[in-house]
Amino acid sequence: MLLQAVLWLLVCLVALCILSESIDTILSILWEMVATIFGGKQIDLRKTFGEWAVVTGSTDGIGKAYAIELARRNINLVLISRSMAKLENTKQEIMQVNPQVKVKIIEADFSVGKDIYHKIQLQLSDIPVGILVNNVGKMYDYPMYLDEVPEQILWDIININVGATTLMTRLVIGQMQQRRRGAIVNVSSGSDLTPLPLMTVYSATKMYIKNFSEAIRMEYSKFGIIVQHLSPFFVATKMNNYSHRINVKSLFVPDSTTYARNAIATLGKINSSTGYWAHSIQKLFVLAPPTWIKNKVALLISRILRQDHFKQKEKEKL
Ligand SMILES: NC(=O)c1ccc[n+]([C@@H]2O[C@H](COP(=O)([O-])OP(=O)(O)OC[C@H]3O[C@@H](n4cnc5c(N)ncnc54)[C@H](OP(=O)(O)O)[C@@H]3O)[C@@H](O)[C@H]2O)c1
Repeated sequence: MLLQAVLWLLVCLVALCILSESIDTILSILWEMVATIFGGKQIDLRKTFGEWAVVTGSTDGIGKAYAIELARRNINLVLISRSMAKLENTKQEIMQVNPQVKVKIIEADFSVGKDIYHKIQLQLSDIPVGILVNNVGKMYDYPMYLDEVPEQILWDIININVGATTLMTRLVIGQMQQRRRGAIVNVSSGSDLTPLPLMTVYSATKMYIKNFSEAIRMEYSKFGIIVQHLSPFFVATKMNNYSHRINVKSLFVPDSTTYARNAIATLGKINSSTGYWAHSIQKLFVLAPPTWIKNKVALLISRILRQDHFKQKEKEKL
């Protein structure tokens, strides 16, 4: 009799834990939506974090749009990408948006790995970095089985997604710690919420970024440093050129400007977010179902996107 009562008590406790965990998740996503839709008072990023921001992968897509939004808020910029011509063009565009800001450019290819960071460190030596946006990222050319992905692409994904986020953070966090303020924005992906077959290595590297962000926040929040983890779902950029479904703007697939504007409004207010309210609705649907359903849906979506790529290639041949 007593054993039965204890067993029931244990079952009830476990059920309560599971339930409160889900309620906690649902409430935090709802809070994300409210925060991205209503935003509240705009934070003065310059006063709060400092005058300079470094944005990696800033000549296209989300990184470029984010840099432009920072310039609109009077933040000086260091742009890092691999093409000098595109860096120069982006700098000109930014100067037209806000001629008051200073813009420095650094040419670096993050796929090279450890050899580039010393050069970046030298070029940043006189810059008090207030905000670091670890945006640069790489996906396969289209959803593939692991053995189909060229070995070099796998190394590039690891060096860019994992290496650049880690080493760039290490490079600036010391000076932020000394000034006792700063923000690190890590652009992960909705693919860090659940394993994503056919984009396996990409989603695994994004899971790294999520865990890295959460742990580094615990290490450095006492020094006044904010670490934000952004997990966007699809944004219409050239990364998604393999499928017409995800490279054309719609409510759930914003363009990079819409995404960046929404995401930047959450900086300093929310530690972990999709950065865009409609993506937070999608997040709710990704997190709610049981794992076996999530996994089946993830595989189905990846297969559809993979077929889109092949159909697109067929059309191009005609
Ligand atoms: N688009 C989406 O649907 C989506 C969804 C979730 C998360 N994300 C994440 O958001 C971030 C930005 O993605 P995006 O779609 O904006 O990408 P994108 O349009 O492909 O732009 C990538 C940027 O990074 C630069 N870059 C690429 N490889 C580089 C390298 N090896 N070294 C230095 N710079 C490099 C590119 O410069 P070049 O001009 O030289 O190529 C470009 O400026 C990524 O971390 C991505 O994983 C994107």
